[in-house]
Amino acid sequence: MRVLVTGGAGYIGSITSGVLAETGRQVTVLDSFEKGHRDAVEGLQVVEGDVRDRSFLAEVFEGADFDAVVHFAAYIEVGESVEQPLRYFRNNLVGGLNVLEAAIRAGVRKFIFSSTAAVYGTPLEVPISEEAPTAPINPYGRSKRDFEEILESCRRSYGLSYASLRYFNAAGARPDGGLGEDHRPESHLIPKVLKAAVDGREVAIYGTDYPTPDGTCVRDYVHVMDLAQAHVLALESMDEGGGRGEVLNLGNGEGFSVREVIRKAGEVTGLDIPVRKAPRRPGDASILVASAEKAKRVLGWQPELADLGTIIETAWRWHSSHPKGYEH
Ligand SMILES: NC(=O)c1ccc[n+]([C@@H]2O[C@H](COP(=O)([O-])OP(=O)(O)OC[C@H]3O[C@@H](n4cnc5c(N)ncnc54)[C@H](O)[C@@H]3O)[C@@H](O)[C@H]2O)c1
Repeated sequence: MRVLVTGGAGYIGSITSGVLAETGRQVTVLDSFEKGHRDAVEGLQVVEGDVRDRSFLAEVFEGADFDAVVHFAAYIEVGESVEQPLRYFRNNLVGGLNVLEAAIRAGVRKFIFSSTAAVYGTPLEVPISEEAPTAPINPYGRSKRDFEEILESCRRSYGLSYASLRYFNAAGARPDGGLGEDHRPESHLIPKVLKAAVDGREVAIYGTDYPTPDGTCVRDYVHVMDLAQAHVLALESMDEGGGRGEVLNLGNGEGFSVREVIRKAGEVTGLDIPVRKAPRRPGDASILVASAEKAKRVLGWQPELADLGTIIETAWRWHSSHPKGYEH
């Protein structure tokens, strides 16, 4: 099976590309390297270019005979999406549309899309099931929700099989310590806490008066290797039949507060992690926890690295061995 992975040099994309290659798929990574890392795709076939460039995409698909596309390429910063919505719609929505159009033109009918818990906005109930209304509260979430709807239209009209995988908080690193998280800027809690541990800096806790047991936000952390495995299973499920569309949450169904994560990181690293209280950030829901029952049922997905300690341990192995992240 030949798979095109857009955004395959990024955090989740590189780890998933490695797992796809290890399971015998022929992987081609497409990345602009604006945010991705060359060291993260060593040994894989790579094409460098931008999904906003339609003629580049036409060339990539020409004669390549891909069986499936896994589309990770996107901008991912919620706050930035509020400041620069057009940039986000251009990259995440129009860029995604370009990839989808090129794929459909080339006869590719299997498409996996990196969606997000941000499509739910402020959920009315937790754990959140896929039946919950989508009501994104920022352009990032809207760009993802809108692309999901485009996929559904293409299923109806072109017989596209797709899976929209709504990740909750991706975290952790390859357990061998070889690939991990290196976003610039880094806005995700676990890498921020571990970097602060290394540098002896304070970690800001944004909001300590949420209606949660300790007043800090609660999130569902899902190991990046378990996410990668879900992509393998989603591709396998598509091998069996055409024209199916699935929207699936990927999370562990358990929430941890910011303070709990910091405490656990202190235990794992053996370091003292100083904190400071900071005001709430606009748009942060108090609790986001997935129900991933559907992914378990539909894909047979079973997260194996669900324990928060294990997630932080693997992340720590990566951060302590790569204090500066990937070299550039
Ligand atoms: N990290 C999370 O917790 C999380 C949660 C939910 C959803 N997601 C989604 O998963 C996907 C991957 O996230 P990540 O954390 O690995 O992000 P990342 O920034 O590490 O990876 C994104 C990759 O896409 C590439 N890219 C961006 N725009 C591009 C373009 N126009 N053309 C070509 N390449 C382009 C970047 O260079 C980068 O390598 C994104 O779509 C994101 O929205 C991530």
